[in-house]
This record gives sequence, C-alpha cells and structure tokens, in this order.
Amino acid sequence: MSEQDKKPWGGRFTAATNEFVETYTASVGFDKRLYRHDINGSIAHATMLAKVGVLTEAECKTIVNGLKDILADIERGDFAWSVSLEDVHMNIEARLTERVGAVGKKLHTGRSRNDQVATDIRLYLREEIDALCEGLLAMQAALLNLAEREAETIMPGFTHLQTAQPVTFGHHMMAWFEMIERDRQRFIDARKRTNILPLGAAALAGTSYPIDRAYTAELLGFDSVAENSLDAVSDRDFAIEFTADAAILMMHLSRFSEELVLWSSAQFNFVDLGDSFCTGSSIMPQKKNPDVPELVRGKSGRVYGNLTALLTLMKSQPLAYNKDNQEDKEPLFDTVDTLLASVHLYTEMLADIQVNKKSMYEAAARGFSTATDLADYLVRKGVAFRDAHEVVGLSVRFCIDNNKDLPDCSLAELQQFSKVIEDDVYAVLTLEGSVSARNHIGGTAPEQVRAAIGRARARLGL
Ligand code: ARG
Repeated sequence: MSEQDKKPWGGRFTAATNEFVETYTASVGFDKRLYRHDINGSIAHATMLAKVGVLTEAECKTIVNGLKDILADIERGDFAWSVSLEDVHMNIEARLTERVGAVGKKLHTGRSRNDQVATDIRLYLREEIDALCEGLLAMQAALLNLAEREAETIMPGFTHLQTAQPVTFGHHMMAWFEMIERDRQRFIDARKRTNILPLGAAALAGTSYPIDRAYTAELLGFDSVAENSLDAVSDRDFAIEFTADAAILMMHLSRFSEELVLWSSAQFNFVDLGDSFCTGSSIMPQKKNPDVPELVRGKSGRVYGNLTALLTLMKSQPLAYNKDNQEDKEPLFDTVDTLLASVHLYTEMLADIQVNKKSMYEAAARGFSTATDLADYLVRKGVAFRDAHEVVGLSVRFCIDNNKDLPDCSLAELQQFSKVIEDDVYAVLTLEGSVSARNHIGGTAPEQVRAAIGRARARLGL
C-alpha cells in the first residue's frame, strides 16, 4: 500500500480497498457540500478540547487556523477532493495534517465520524430551514400583495370543480396564504428538534475524555445537547420530519400549481402568467405553456420519493450508527434544493401574475352561483331551509330549460316557485351582493379579506 493511499483507519488492514468498493462506499461526491459545517464543527470541537485541557492552546490555535485556511482553499476552488479519502470529514482532516503537520492528527480526539456527520447534517439543515422560512415569508408577502390588490375581484368558487358560489380572488389567495403559513410553522417546529448537538456521542457510547458538551453546543448555537449517545449518532428522524413537512408543502404547491395551470388555459382564461414564467412550443406557435407551475407540480413527486427513501433507509436499522445512514444526504439535499427553488420561483411568479377580472366575473355569473343566496333570501322571508332548497332547485331547472340565469328571470317567473319573492331579490342575486353578504371572520366579503390581510401582516411583521 502506498503512503498516499493509506486510509486514516488503515492500521488494521493489510490489503488495499477494492477499487470498486472504494467508489461504492465513498460519499465525498455529495457530502463535500457539508464542508463549511464540517469545518465549523471541527473548530468548535478543537476549541472545546483546549478548554478542557485535552489540547494545548497552541495546538488548538494551529488546528483552528489550519481549518480556516482550508475553508478559504475550498471556497477558492483550490481543494482536490479525493475519493480514496471517502468523505468530506476525512478529506478535510487529511488536508489539515498536510498543512499543519502532526498536530492535525489530534483534532479527532474524543469524537468519531459518527457524531461528526450527525452534527454536520444538523448544522446544515438548521441553516437551510432558516433560508426556507425566509423564502416562505417572501412568498407570503407576495400572496398578501396579490390578495390586497384583488380583494374585490369576483371569481367563481368551486366544489367538485363545478361552480359553487362566488368568492373573491383575494379570499382565494388568502387560502393559499394560510396553507403556506402552516407549512412555515411546521418547519419552525422541526427546527427545534434539529437544533440539538450530537457531538460528544463519539462512535456510539460517548468518550473517556473530559469533554464539555454544553460548551460545544454554545459555540455552535445548538439549543441543547443530545441526551443519549446511541440515539445521537443513529437517528435521522429530524431529517425525516423535515422531509415530511417538505412533502406537505409540495402537496400544497402542487394544488396551487394545478389551479394556475387550469386558470391560465384558454378555457378558463382567469390569469395570465408572466411571459418569463412560461415557454413556447417548438411546433405550435400559439402556445404559452405554464411550465413553472407544471414543474412544481411534478417536483412534488420527487420530494415524496425522498421522504419514502429516508423512511425506508431508517426502517429496521439496529442501534447505533450503520453505514446505511450515509444514504440520508442525497434525498435531504435534493429536498432542500427543490423547496428553495420552487418557493423562490413561486414568489416571483406571484408578483407578476395578471388577473382577468372580466373572464372571472363572467364565469362566476354562469352556473347559478348565487342559488344559495336565493335560498338564504327565502329563509329570511320565513321559508324553512329545506323548502327554500326545493324552490331554488325548481327555479334553476326552469332557467336551464329556458337557457337563462337566475338574475335574468322576471319577478313573475320567480314567483311561480314562491310567492314570498319580491323585487328586492335582485340585490341578493348579484355577485357583489353574494360576496359582501359573507361578512364574518373567515368569509369571502372584501371587507373580511382586507381584515384578514391586516391581521396576517401584523402577525408576521410584513
Ligand atoms: N460518510 C459517513 C456518513 O455519511 C460518515 C460516517 C462514517 N462513519 C463510519 N464509521 N464509517 O454517514
């Protein structure tokens, strides 16, 4: 075995690693992405070792400076990652010893790659959760602006994708705001269980050195230290929880996307997505395809896949660390990348969306969307709701047979079905009357939409 190929763990081995096994077991190709967290974790570890007297101050200083130089090397693109050094941890450690000499070999005192990698992923995920929450806030701000601009805009509300009752577009946007807010809260909550320090667990049982885990936690900004070393090195439930929350967010975005795809079609013609969020067809010159929402909808699949991958990865694993865990990174990274990009694009797309008020209004006016208002009107005049339902049903039947809508009927025509109908019925049959009547918290009236926007802005500081 040449000196160069020697593994940090090579002592008990006589034969070199099979070349294919080396490539198969290496993770550096993807975990090098954790370099900054790995270095920060190592700096904190060395600082703690000096505090408790395991390293001298001078040794610690050399190690910390060496690590900082390596960070700069990597950021400058001046670092040759080696597959034979397996992962980000051993690559950096080997380089440290190369740079600072034998003292670099003392860094790994009292720790293992098992607690090191668990620490790195938690540092990584914590940072990404914060970025994601920022991104979601920006998206929510875009939703609030759009909802405010379109607080009075009337569109058909649907159930079963059939015209149900008129709603305001602002109210519809605020429904998305609420879903995204719950998603954001879920990530904030997942962060609490992510921000716990595994370091100190060492390989699995803890270490015989007099380490100060609380100090390491403080240096790295962790809220607490993991209570149990076996648990600390082996579980990845925080990553699964994050990915489950991610899957829910993508489910929401897929629904939103589905609406945007439908609404931007010629058949609905409710919204116009900005040209920069669509593409054309190479064969059909008239096409403007809603690629961004379609892709977000499609990408929900890969995030669900990542969740399934992580759950399956952890299923049935005995305690404590197993190499299986190395497979946690790619699904997690992919989930983070997909979420950040999708949320970012959504935010920009929402700021650019044009609403075709006329099409939406006309669509809301079709399909007897104020039929419930007529029933409520009859109830106010003393008719029991079930009877009112029947009267309206007969009126709608009459309209279908005569190819007209409810507000087009004469008073005499409506009175065929109930004598209590008077001239004031036309006020409730209008779309504006219908939405304004739903004037309670959670209702679609423009006044309520504005109040909801105000509360949301105050709550989120937007
Ligand atoms: N690359 C490994 C991972 O990602 C680091 C920990 C390896 N530990 C070990 N004893 N092989 O999980």
